[in-house]
Amino acid sequence: MECIRGNTSVDVPADGLGAANYDDVLIDIGTGDGRYVLHVAQTRPEWFVIGVDACRDNLRKTSRRAPRNALYVIANALAMPDELTGMASKVTINFPWGSLLTGLLDAEPTLLEGLLSIARPGAGLEIRLNSEALTEAGHTLESGSARLRQILRSTGFDTGDPRLLDARGLRQCHTTWANRLAYGRDPRAVYLQAKLPQPSIITSPGGYLAG
Ligand SMILES: C[S@@+](CC[C@H](N)C(=O)[O-])C[C@H]1O[C@@H](n2cnc3c(N)ncnc32)[C@H](O)[C@@H]1O
Repeated sequence: MECIRGNTSVDVPADGLGAANYDDVLIDIGTGDGRYVLHVAQTRPEWFVIGVDACRDNLRKTSRRAPRNALYVIANALAMPDELTGMASKVTINFPWGSLLTGLLDAEPTLLEGLLSIARPGAGLEIRLNSEALTEAGHTLESGSARLRQILRSTGFDTGDPRLLDARGLRQCHTTWANRLAYGRDPRAVYLQAKLPQPSIITSPGGYLAG
């Protein structure tokens, strides 16, 4: 799996990621310039944080400053690297565009399978979709979030109610794109939370069996 730090790219195997000493791992898909990953890694040192993006150029600057608990991976979310399988206790997708956005709204199987493959049982998922990107994809905030919610449910996620974000809400998101949107023409977005169910515990006369 290709990881980037500044101008250097290295091929890192699953056991070389450095996540083994951490109970919780966040994977931020479509991480852009990686600012959100840096923020979480710095403010939550007990988490290991991985940013994934298909575009390496925007990641050079931030990845140079990555602390020990942060890593940046160059990968297409529609072909998630096997090395990330079963790692994430939480996944975030902030303000996707392009194939990441259409993959979500069109229920692209390779994207949804990738999401399921990287997530542990019980993993949380947070998605923020902005109004302009949804309009370009032929949706309103309401229709886009309803569609995504329905797709996530049929993929196996439990979903919460969507929450609207205005300029103030966007300013509280620690991503570069959120900041741009907050001061732009259409400072509106929708925030969706979802969770994979934990495996059920089946009680048997002899004790407990994890199902
Ligand atoms: C609008 S930017 C948001 C970046 C960042 N999450 C933020 O909030 O600042 C969307 C990002 O999604 C990435 N992206 C789009 N399609 C992708 C794909 N198929 N796989 C991985 N990243 C993708 C783009 O390269 C871009 O960095």
